[in-house]
Amino acid sequence: MSATETKASGEKTQNGLRSRDWFGPNDLRAMTARAYLRSEGFSEQVFYGKPVVGICNSWSELTTCNAHLRQVAEAVKRGVWAAGGFPLEFPTISLGEVLMKPTTMLYRNLMAMDVEECIRAYPLDAVVLLCGCDKTTPAQLMGAASADVPAIMVPGGPMLRGVWRGQELGSGTDSRRLWNDRRSGALSDEAWCEVESCIARSPGHCMVMGTASTMTSLVEALGMTLPGAANIPAADSRRLACGEESGRRAVEMAREGLRPSQILTREAFENAIRTDMAIGGSTNAIIHLTAFAGRLGIPLPIERFDEFSRTTPFITNIKPSGAYLMEDLYYAGGLPAVMKELAPLLHAGALTVNGKTIGENVAAAECFNRAVIKTLKAPIHPEGGTVILRGNLAPCGAVIKQTAASPQLEKHVGRAVVFENYDDLMARVDDPELDVSEDSVMVLRSAGPKGAPGMPEWGDLPIPTKLLKAGVRDIVRISDARMSGTAYGTVVLHVSPESAAGGPLAVVRNGDQIELDVAARRLELRVPEAELQQRLRSWQPPAPHYTRGYGRMYLDHILQAHEGCDFDFLRRD
Ligand code: FES
Repeated sequence: MSATETKASGEKTQNGLRSRDWFGPNDLRAMTARAYLRSEGFSEQVFYGKPVVGICNSWSELTTCNAHLRQVAEAVKRGVWAAGGFPLEFPTISLGEVLMKPTTMLYRNLMAMDVEECIRAYPLDAVVLLCGCDKTTPAQLMGAASADVPAIMVPGGPMLRGVWRGQELGSGTDSRRLWNDRRSGALSDEAWCEVESCIARSPGHCMVMGTASTMTSLVEALGMTLPGAANIPAADSRRLACGEESGRRAVEMAREGLRPSQILTREAFENAIRTDMAIGGSTNAIIHLTAFAGRLGIPLPIERFDEFSRTTPFITNIKPSGAYLMEDLYYAGGLPAVMKELAPLLHAGALTVNGKTIGENVAAAECFNRAVIKTLKAPIHPEGGTVILRGNLAPCGAVIKQTAASPQLEKHVGRAVVFENYDDLMARVDDPELDVSEDSVMVLRSAGPKGAPGMPEWGDLPIPTKLLKAGVRDIVRISDARMSGTAYGTVVLHVSPESAAGGPLAVVRNGDQIELDVAARRLELRVPEAELQQRLRSWQPPAPHYTRGYGRMYLDHILQAHEGCDFDFLRRD
């Protein structure tokens, strides 16, 4: 067995660098490794003592939000060379939120496995992870956490703000609002076409506090980026400077052997959850943070999110829960200014990739715009953005983003209007005969991890057109789906167990009374317990969506929403 085969792990080798086992020995295999790399035009100098820094690039023209990452990779390479390292860029699969069907979430774990195995299998002493669009960030972090080779993340940054007829537009959020206006007849065809041309006008990911902005902010809060890296707009030259600095730092990390497992501690996760609550982060963050923790063997029951929600004020005034856009957050001081405000609630001693603590990193941060970043004493909302609900309709939990909900609907009892699946929803939602009113509770099932499959972002069910025409813009909606972080409304998500796994959502009937009480954290189906049990006993599981290939593996191993939707065999016990 060769040295290469014996050291394919995240551990440092005897001489300090993993790559030495590939390139160092005086044998045929190492000579071949060097010779073939030299076929790319590298001189022999690159093999002497230089840490090899992999640049794991989620660039793809199919992942529109990450299409500028080749340029960022070049900046990272400059930094690696300048610090005495040897950069090698490599691709993995990429997950483009807008173009991929049925949903990128179906493939998050596949990308995580790709990232993990590439890091482990190649001669890398450190890795720089280039991410951006929604699932690319959690997939890369999950893979890197499991490989446990020194790693630093460089997010691609948000798009510049959209501007249309003098109005600022946030991608995702304002397109949904304007789509409702168009469906109700309030927006012309011409205006709708104009919106298309100016709502996504630069490189980068969605520029509201959607899933991409949330997850890139949270990897910074976890300590996995340089301070201030998350919120720099993609089109800003400082994005490239950040890439260069991260490349330099990756070389140092390789020499120090600073690994993700030393950074991603329980304290780091608690800092990330606090930050998520304070920024009004996407509900998807609950799933991804739970999955990260599972990769590290850190217990993170869903109740922890609610504990932190109750004790962390929401202070970041960004759409869809607020009024501003990510560009404004960056100019106001960015995430360091938010975390400086949160400092009394954080574990200041948590280590980060620059070798300093999070407390040291944010100590000098300043807020330059109090309209965007509020204080703990005068927050936008006294509690965090996301709330965990329980009840007989969600025995293992459900999620609602209270800061994006309508206050008058947060305590509500209404009659269920049930849709069997997404096709049923689309076929009937605009039917003028649909028996629905503004007091109804719309229920969608077969939209969870197994049922859809892949738990798509179908949770913000469209408001029926007849209600839109009557001026209604929000009603209570419940499903086992997820929702885009850019969306808003009184929307209960991630109902667990999902309907396709036999959760009570599977047996809700039209006309049943459903109670939502956000303050009491309650979600109840007002059906007598004996009848509920009788309905559950007669429930039949649906036929599986896949019988072969990746889909089969996915269905056999996917965990439920409250467990992070990772594969059972990828968690560390
Ligand atoms: Fe990529 Fe929104 S579509 S972040």
